[in-house]
Amino acid sequence: MAAKIYTITSGKGGTGKSMFAVNLAAALAGLAKKTLLIDADLGMANIGLMLGLENNKITLHEVLADEANVTDTLCDGPNGLKILPCGISLQGFKKADPSKLKDVISEMAPNFEFIIIDTPTGMNHITATCIELCNEVLLVLTPEMTAIADGSKMKTIAALLGKEVTGMVLNRTVPVHDEQYREKLAKSLDMKILEVLPEDVSVPNSITGKSPVVTKYPYSEISIAMNRLGAALCGIKIPELEEGKGQKKQKTEKARLSGAKLPFSQSKK
Ligand SMILES: Nc1ncnc2c1ncn2[C@@H]1O[C@H](COP(=O)(O)OP(=O)(O)O)[C@@H](O)[C@H]1O
Ligand SMILES: [Mg+2]
Repeated sequence: MAAKIYTITSGKGGTGKSMFAVNLAAALAGLAKKTLLIDADLGMANIGLMLGLENNKITLHEVLADEANVTDTLCDGPNGLKILPCGISLQGFKKADPSKLKDVISEMAPNFEFIIIDTPTGMNHITATCIELCNEVLLVLTPEMTAIADGSKMKTIAALLGKEVTGMVLNRTVPVHDEQYREKLAKSLDMKILEVLPEDVSVPNSITGKSPVVTKYPYSEISIAMNRLGAALCGIKIPELEEGKGQKKQKTEKARLSGAKLPFSQSKK
């Protein structure tokens, strides 16, 4: 088995790379794919905090400092997902040798079907290494001029490293980012939009709950989009939901999160 390796990047910080990496990995694991999520943001690692692994003493920092073996460092996540978290201490960052990251990923590749790598913000050697060794580069952008400009730059950098960006995920959208907006954006960046993820309070709520959105709020719009993308990466096409139980639950959940009332919500007497 040789894993298909996806590098998640953006250029700009705060676009949702870590959120997306966690949820894509959990969605793939939910489809019974052997999946490894790697937090390669060695300086500002967030995935341990997002999934309740922040107290782990042995992390990618220790592996890169030759103090631990990578197999012993893997943690269990939801749906059988394996996680290689990174420490959050500055001492850990100082002792980690980033030049060893390539060997760590190569060592893990035969054991998985998918490897999802979360990278640091901006252009740096770690992101460049991850772009070079992966099979596909995915950009996570928000509909802001700055994020789009940095995403365009990242596309050029990937090309210089010999990789064509597979596509972008447009995150934190609101209704104004309609089809017309998205078509224009895709054309201006000459890049496919793979999925659209709305601004959704289920994201911060799931981080507080230390779980991926796809497991904590499985009927949210974001979860449905993430599962659809995960399935597409596995070559599975998910049919559109018909108005039924799942959609009703999704609407109820959306309404609950937004505090809105729905015509079919039943008030308890
Ligand atoms: N679709 C979304 N809806 C609401 N909040 C979001 C969404 N995506 C990301 N966020 C929030 O945006 C912030 C940045 O996300 P993060 O994944 O840490 O970005 P990055 O890794 O690119 O720096 C976090 O506080 C996260 O909760
Ligand atoms: Mg991040």
